[in-house]
Amino acid sequence: MPKSIPFIKTLPELLKALQPIKAGDVDAFSRILSSTRLSRESIQKYCFFRKEGYTRNLVIRTEHYELLVLCWDVGQYSPIHNHQSQNCWMYVVDGILAETLYSVSELVEDRVQLKQLKKTQSDPGGFFYINDEMGLHRVSNGGTVQAISLHLYSFPFDTCNIYSEDSGVVTQRVLQYYSVDGKKLETVKI
Ligand code: SIN
Repeated sequence: MPKSIPFIKTLPELLKALQPIKAGDVDAFSRILSSTRLSRESIQKYCFFRKEGYTRNLVIRTEHYELLVLCWDVGQYSPIHNHQSQNCWMYVVDGILAETLYSVSELVEDRVQLKQLKKTQSDPGGFFYINDEMGLHRVSNGGTVQAISLHLYSFPFDTCNIYSEDSGVVTQRVLQYYSVDGKKLETVKI
């Protein structure tokens, strides 16, 4: 029988559980996130909203993973993107998070064909997992109130490819943080 762990209800508990986990241990990261029950209050310091788009707020970055709080106002969404061969988990803290999954054809002259596979959504307490073998995705606020999600990437990554649904054109995006350790950065461009 796999070892069950008690619910993780605070951010310090989550950070402690993640601390010994090495990149590549997908089962361990999944087990921790499936045992997580964090409230919005417990991560309030990392929650920043803005009208121009969703925000990416860094909680911790190690050589094995990074943990971010993403804040989605009503109607906000990410571009369709890949994960640069890394693992991505998304845990819903508040509101409703939606994921639209796409398959992608081979790149021909900077263009691909995308096919929408499915759209799923989750309430607080649920989590999603994706890697590049599963496809690309767009993440969005699937509800009518603000949504907040925790994102765990292992390894951390600083750029990803983004894909235009209309033209199939692929471009590279540099990923930025809106805040680090609860403090808004002055240099945010996106
Ligand atoms: C992002 O990190 O900006 C997009 C959301 C995700 O794929 O986790």
